[in-house]
Amino acid sequence: MGSVINIVGCGPGSSDCMTREAVSAVKSSSVVVGSERLLALFPGFDGERVPIGSDMSAALDRIESLCAKGPVAILVSGDPGLFSLSKLVIKRFGRDLCRVIPGISSIQAAFARLALDWTDARIISAHVSDPDESLMSSLAGEPKIAVLLGRSDSTKWVITFLKKYPRDRQIFVCENLTLGDERIREIQAAELLTLAVSPNSLVLLIDRGLLE
Ligand SMILES: C[S@@+](CC[C@H](N)C(=O)[O-])C[C@H]1O[C@@H](n2cnc3c(N)ncnc32)[C@H](O)[C@@H]1O
Repeated sequence: MGSVINIVGCGPGSSDCMTREAVSAVKSSSVVVGSERLLALFPGFDGERVPIGSDMSAALDRIESLCAKGPVAILVSGDPGLFSLSKLVIKRFGRDLCRVIPGISSIQAAFARLALDWTDARIISAHVSDPDESLMSSLAGEPKIAVLLGRSDSTKWVITFLKKYPRDRQIFVCENLTLGDERIREIQAAELLTLAVSPNSLVLLIDRGLLE
């Protein structure tokens, strides 16, 4: 070990939303590691490209072995500080070796699309698994909640929460933000039961009245 590990926030998906710092961190790396979707954001990268899947422990082992080759760039979606592989990478390799490049989060993009301030938003992830049910009571009175989805049944947690803690909220499903097939829909709670959403999506629960 010894090479720097650049943990690169790639933004919500469009290359227009990637920072110049992200682009140059990748350019200066010998190896780039990430999902196929994120690797595709760097078609001109001429070093080694290493796709990784959802097995995080295998990914960390692979990253360790790649560090011998020079600086490694690990691509994460959005911002590295929000529900990303970054936490595990820093834990395994230490802060001194890791350089974190911030990115535009999907949450930022979603609130920007609604032109709504998100200072007071609560952010929950149902991306890998359902959040703890005990979290629900702490969210009951929150005016703005963002839930990251990602699994076919990620919406189940949202459905249970809305049933348990009814409130006059607007529900927005934000899919593929910043990409060509971006879609933002306001839906009714009942529609969540049968909703087919892209894996690249999140839900915003916003108190009615805040968008007037
Ligand atoms: C592992 S989390 C990473 C979040 C990321 N670090 C961020 O700041 O946006 C992945 C989840 O982010 C959300 N996401 C990422 N990109 C998105 C996009 N372009 N549109 C909607 N949701 C997105 C989805 O909920 C996806 O399942």
